[in-house]
Amino acid sequence: MVSCFTGELNGSYLDLQTSNMPHFVYIYHKKSMSTAQTIKVNYGIDAPGVVRNLFLGGLAAFLIPVFFPVITIGSVIIDTRGLFWTAGGCTLGGILMLAYSLYGKYKHRDRMLNLVSWTGNEQVLDIGTGKGLLMIGAAKRLTTGKAIGIDIWNAEDLTGNTIQNTVKNTIAEGVADKTQILNENAMEMSFADNTFDVILTNMTLHNIYDKPGRQKACTEIARVLKPGGVAVIADFRHAKEYKSNFDELGTQNTLYRADYFRTFPAVSVLVVKK
Ligand SMILES: C[S@@+](CC[C@H](N)C(=O)[O-])C[C@H]1O[C@@H](n2cnc3c(N)ncnc32)[C@H](O)[C@@H]1O
Repeated sequence: MVSCFTGELNGSYLDLQTSNMPHFVYIYHKKSMSTAQTIKVNYGIDAPGVVRNLFLGGLAAFLIPVFFPVITIGSVIIDTRGLFWTAGGCTLGGILMLAYSLYGKYKHRDRMLNLVSWTGNEQVLDIGTGKGLLMIGAAKRLTTGKAIGIDIWNAEDLTGNTIQNTVKNTIAEGVADKTQILNENAMEMSFADNTFDVILTNMTLHNIYDKPGRQKACTEIARVLKPGGVAVIADFRHAKEYKSNFDELGTQNTLYRADYFRTFPAVSVLVVKK
């Protein structure tokens, strides 16, 4: 075991330790501190590279017609002013993606969580938890239950996507005692069959780029979900593919249409009952 974060958080002394393989395990020790420190909750910006490229592309598409409205190459004359539309489209896309990360995803999280009839005793799994958006949201609805978040911590999928930042969020949100964070891949989970009452996953499965991999993740979800349990799966791509995977697995599945108001790109939600 090696320490990967040690410091003061909310007046507590935190010693975050990681085992090398295969799971992260975190342990925190509370000691009274003389000065309380406030931690800010931060759930990050989704796909920051895409947001950056949209703004840069928008800027380039704006500047080209400003400085070179007409480009002549030999006998070919190119009117570049049509690029203003491209500039507008790219910039709007960047703004809408930022708006989702800063505002929309909290409404979207609540929409997902409201699809579950909570008793407070559930064992919950959030797949691709990132900085804990769904895991922490679920933990706040629990009394004796527990929420586990798993991830492989892809830096390009979310700003500040590290287990340390996720642990900080659980402490800042007051749910550290109801949560556990593990380093696991959606395609190969270590949990026993029929472990979870509720499984949540948001904007994660599309990051598995091959179809058999996504099918494997769906099979794993069906395997670790308890009979009578519910999985809420949200993504902006492949929703029909996920439904067809679960149809083959024999669960009861309802696909809710994409939400164009709170999410960008628009996210569809699939509810799976085993
Ligand atoms: C766009 S982020 C969304 C994070 C979080 N669900 C949310 O809504 O804020 C996608 C997350 O999926 C994780 N991820 C990607 N592929 C994964 C896989 N095969 N298994 C587990 N997590 C994965 C990434 O590391 C990242 O944290």
